[in-house]
Amino acid sequence: MQEPEFDFRAAVNAVSDVVQNRPRPLREFDQIWMKTGDMVLQSEFVARWANGKNVAFVGDGDAISVCVAYLQRRGIVTYGPQHITVFDFDERICHAVERFADAERLTTLDATLYNCLDAFPQLGAFDAFYTNPPWGASNDGESVKVFMQRGMEATGYRGEGLVVIGDDPGLAWTQQVSAGVQRFALTSGFAIERLMPRLHSYHLDDNPELRSCNILVRALPGTTPPRGSQNISDPARLANFYGRGNAPRVRYVRELARVDYGKAHESEYELELLPDAES
Ligand SMILES: C[S@@+](CC[C@H](N)C(=O)[O-])C[C@H]1O[C@@H](n2cnc3c(N)ncnc32)[C@H](O)[C@@H]1O
Repeated sequence: MQEPEFDFRAAVNAVSDVVQNRPRPLREFDQIWMKTGDMVLQSEFVARWANGKNVAFVGDGDAISVCVAYLQRRGIVTYGPQHITVFDFDERICHAVERFADAERLTTLDATLYNCLDAFPQLGAFDAFYTNPPWGASNDGESVKVFMQRGMEATGYRGEGLVVIGDDPGLAWTQQVSAGVQRFALTSGFAIERLMPRLHSYHLDDNPELRSCNILVRALPGTTPPRGSQNISDPARLANFYGRGNAPRVRYVRELARVDYGKAHESEYELELLPDAES
């Protein structure tokens, strides 16, 4: 299949606008942002994959949702989702999405403050889901399954999903998590449609070589959804959720003050004046 052509320079510059607006990552919640070149290619791919669909993003610190909506709005790609809702427990991320959407008149994009341990509020309202969850190095991928479950609920177990997880042939845990995630998809009534290995890199100082892959899943015809959506509180599912000894204890990350991420904050520097300027 031939991939569509798009103006790469215009796309990089558009994604650069989004990156300027991205809050700084909180490592204790596995917030590790994707590198810009990979965001460009991932966003174009997601725009194509989700063309015409109503998509739920379960967590999106990377801001791929924003890139997808912005690339389409700017006419850099001529395809894309009909609508995107970002569900994230970090208010800084939800506000950053809303502010960008407002400033650029992205009418196809909004955000909802939501913790994926709570029952999903809009069952079956979406055609597709996207998630780049905590990758589950210390919990056998259970954290990935929690985010996926919410995505599947978002589609009423009738839609498609794109799951981004760690992928390194030299790291046994990534292969174990990937196999477990694929088994989870199958037992939930979803088929594995495509696996795109070692695609994206991250701003991750302790392992800059670690890549992630895309796993595309699709609900099998006749899959019956479980009844309703429940809160998740089973300690066995939540142990080591954000890494060893780091189970969830926070419902929401609240934004204290609006920060303009593209500009240096005055607490970061002071001005030493020229002699003439001092008098
Ligand atoms: C865990 S990070 C993984 C890193 C990935 N590169 C990304 O940004 O999408 C994914 C997103 O999930 C969000 N998140 C983490 N825990 C959450 C929770 N319990 N409920 C909802 N969103 C959560 C984070 O705020 C972040 O935006």
